[in-house]
Amino acid sequence: MSKETYPFKDYIRVIPDFPQPGIRFKDITTLLKNGKAYYAAIEEMKEAVQHLNVDVVAGPEARGFVVGAPLALALGVGFTPIRKSGKLPGEIVTAGYELEYGKDQLAMHKDAIEPGQRVLIADDLLATGGTIETSINLVKQLGGEVVGAAFLIELAYLNGRDKLGEIPLFSLMTYE
Ligand code: PRP
Repeated sequence: MSKETYPFKDYIRVIPDFPQPGIRFKDITTLLKNGKAYYAAIEEMKEAVQHLNVDVVAGPEARGFVVGAPLALALGVGFTPIRKSGKLPGEIVTAGYELEYGKDQLAMHKDAIEPGQRVLIADDLLATGGTIETSINLVKQLGGEVVGAAFLIELAYLNGRDKLGEIPLFSLMTYE
């Protein structure tokens, strides 16, 4: 299915001034609650990335879970969470990041990825790229190879894709 064949954007609700004045929040809950749209989105992402021979999908908390976990299942591989600080119970690696609005730290379990594994990072949204940059940093700390990144939505005007360098990027929807 090509980008044009399913009206994914019709299922995204844009909410002005959330969580701060001036931010036009892209609400994906209106897509997720529609089984056909959610399934079509994951299928299209799967088709876009399956040539990358991914070993494991990593997804940043929390909205990255609802994209990354079903995408991992569709690809027939495992999923590992990238979590905000203080959530993972085992030994971790950490890295700092800056969001479109706010700052935090992300963490992964030290045994989340085996050295040399091919990792796809999946998330709902690419905004400034702070989250993906930090996620790449974490995977690299663990010796994994980030072979791609997949998003439901890319906010192109924030230039987050610059943070990916040569890593292949797929976004289902782009807002200019
Ligand atoms: C949002 C979104 C991405 C990130 C994108 O997550 O789900 O992970 O911001 O922004 P960036 O490209 O500027 O880093 P958020 O931290 O709001 O957390 P949530 O998924 O728990 O709501």
